[in-house]
Amino acid sequence: MVLTQLSDVDFTLSELPFMEPARNVVMTSTDHFEITYVINPHMAGNIGDVNTQIAKKQWQELHDAFVSLGFNVDVVYGMPGQPDMVFCANQTLPFLQKNGQRGAVLSKMYAPQRAGEVLHYERYFEEQGWDIIDDIFKGDIEFEGMGDALWHVGKRLLWGGHGFRTDISVYDLISRRLETPVLALVLDDPEFYHLDTCLCILDSETALIYPDAFKKEGLELIHHFFPRVIEAPKNEARELFACNAHCPDGKNVIIQRGCEVTNGLLRDLEFNVVEVDTDEFLKSGGSVFCMKLMTW
Ligand code: ARG
Repeated sequence: MVLTQLSDVDFTLSELPFMEPARNVVMTSTDHFEITYVINPHMAGNIGDVNTQIAKKQWQELHDAFVSLGFNVDVVYGMPGQPDMVFCANQTLPFLQKNGQRGAVLSKMYAPQRAGEVLHYERYFEEQGWDIIDDIFKGDIEFEGMGDALWHVGKRLLWGGHGFRTDISVYDLISRRLETPVLALVLDDPEFYHLDTCLCILDSETALIYPDAFKKEGLELIHHFFPRVIEAPKNEARELFACNAHCPDGKNVIIQRGCEVTNGLLRDLEFNVVEVDTDEFLKSGGSVFCMKLMTW
């Protein structure tokens, strides 16, 4: 079931089965992170511009933020020749089946430069006995994992962005194999090329969004399913990736430093703001959410 507008919706959130939120963090080391090509507007003009030492410090700061909040962080090692591998939200979509079996859908990366990254995560999940769904990976229709496909916290419900990195047609297969409805949202601005750049699901009732990245139908779906929606201002969403924040536990929001307006709105809702620096990664079009993957 793939739904694109409110009039398609014939269920309420409370009718959907509970799904345990993912609590394990996976990060990919930054050893080989650099900018060698341009595949999104944020990367333009930044080739060769990453300060590796600073990137390592910033990555460690994010890693340590998860650890100090009590999370286990697994590290998958970055590979030479895969400068974007550090953005480990993109190569897979981890899932938990109704029978408790864990699995991962492998992505079909939009840019050929990133295609080789996926196999490293396939190996990581295979070694742990997870089910692997590789139909999309082996086909020719694009899908970029948790860059575009976001689990609603605590519910068997998937939000699926499409338009730039993911083709909407993949969500039929995902909906069937993962036994979940998919709310498909078309993305409308190339600076917000992944759903995780403009929608941050903070808890089952609350979303942080950048509204101009969506069309009317998408905004209606968001407002229907989230009683609380806060909006990041343009400069914070665009320059600081405010909506690429991540709330791993329903309380603490890890976010790029300096999102003053967004942080005020988060604090008004009683979230605790944990600021980190990800500027070296912003040069490549990614921040907190992209730099980790949540698994079970
Ligand atoms: N340079 C990477 C790319 O364009 C950044 C990916 C950011 N990831 C994300 N989930 N938004 O593919």
